[in-house]
Amino acid sequence: MDFNPLSPEARANPYPGYEWLRREAPVHELEPFGVFALSRHSDILAALKSPEIFSSSGMRAMMSGQTGMMGSTTEPGRMGQITQANSLISSDGEIHDRLRAVVNRGFTPRRIAELEPRVRKVTAEAIDSIASAGEMDLVRDLAIPVPVRMIADILGVPGERLRDFKRWSDAIIESATGVGQDDRAREHFKAREEFLAFFDRAIEARRKSPGGDLISTLVRAEGAEDGSPSLSPDEVLSFTVLLLIAGNETTTNLIGNTLLALTDHPDQMEKVCANPGLIPNLVEEALRFDSPVQAIFRQTTRDVDVAGTMIPEGKLVMLLLGSANRDEDWLPNADRFDVTRELKGHIGFGFGVHFCLGASLARLEARVALETLLSRCRRIERTTETVEWIDSLILRGPKSLPLRFDA
Ligand code: HEM
Repeated sequence: MDFNPLSPEARANPYPGYEWLRREAPVHELEPFGVFALSRHSDILAALKSPEIFSSSGMRAMMSGQTGMMGSTTEPGRMGQITQANSLISSDGEIHDRLRAVVNRGFTPRRIAELEPRVRKVTAEAIDSIASAGEMDLVRDLAIPVPVRMIADILGVPGERLRDFKRWSDAIIESATGVGQDDRAREHFKAREEFLAFFDRAIEARRKSPGGDLISTLVRAEGAEDGSPSLSPDEVLSFTVLLLIAGNETTTNLIGNTLLALTDHPDQMEKVCANPGLIPNLVEEALRFDSPVQAIFRQTTRDVDVAGTMIPEGKLVMLLLGSANRDEDWLPNADRFDVTRELKGHIGFGFGVHFCLGASLARLEARVALETLLSRCRRIERTTETVEWIDSLILRGPKSLPLRFDA
């Protein structure tokens, strides 16, 4: 067996491949890309604890297509320029600290907890519109609209463009991380241009009249001269792109993957329905068991020995979070989906300085979605066996998830 992350089998079910990697080739050079894949929990955690050796420039390389494994957003247009701007997710050291300081306060657990009534309202509206039908596509009807609406609220952009947001962010993700998107390149390009034009206008409007939203916070930081962290105009746009994309696709996939796991394990569904207090635990177990972000990238700043294999300086390294979270050496029975498991941490949100900014928001949205869904809909079942996965090498989630239930 070899591990080919691009193969349809690995996309449908990467876990046997990960198991093989952890056992046989924990530091595995993916040919012909020259990218090194790490799959063991201990090696990945060690890499995340050493950002000075494993640089987040690997994320920029990934997004601009330099791995050769996926698409590319590098083009002579505006998006290429924005991809090259400093971005929270792809910078290190002081630049990263400066960017993170601009937004950190907006995402503290306390600030996010204040959003709970709004999340409940948005979720209830989504479920009201389908609950009487006895059938839904969980992804289309709940897992997409709730996170998109919330991140639009947080950014402070009008709700009437929600469908466009989703289309734009899908296009950016597919074109940067998908593997089968060549024939859709024109469509993606057009979507990206529309996206940038929309946010250029939104940012310009906030420059003229700032408010209490996140785009205003970013704009206020432009050229700040009072010693507080400052942003350049390209950094403002790049931040907005990152927040919109990171803020919806991932949470959509978390809600989708959780329902997939529950419908695949009816005994676990019963436990949660009998005891809704287990829902926060269920969310953590789902993040671990079928991680919405399966992989992140780093780039080595010097030669480094990992588990006896030398990775040369300048190489791209793929950290398989989805594999680390299933590593039996870290967690007994890691392949078992167990909503009562006492989980002491997982790395579904990453680890260390780049730990997910939106973790509290994602947890809140997923918890409220599950609480509302399970209290309103009983005997939830899938109506199809087959699952079509989104086209991404690093994100994992179902494209759609048709369910039947008793209202
Ligand atoms: C289930 C949902 C989510 C998952 C699984 C997830 C996962 C991750 C992971 C693994 C990282 C680390 C990346 C790295 O180390 O290179 C990360 C970073 C990040 N996430 Fe999330 N995320 C989720 C939701 C969100 C949401 C809702 C937001 C919205 C605001 C968000 C914003 C970010 C940002 C801005 C970063 C970069 C942080 C930094 O580099 O300092 N994420 N996320």
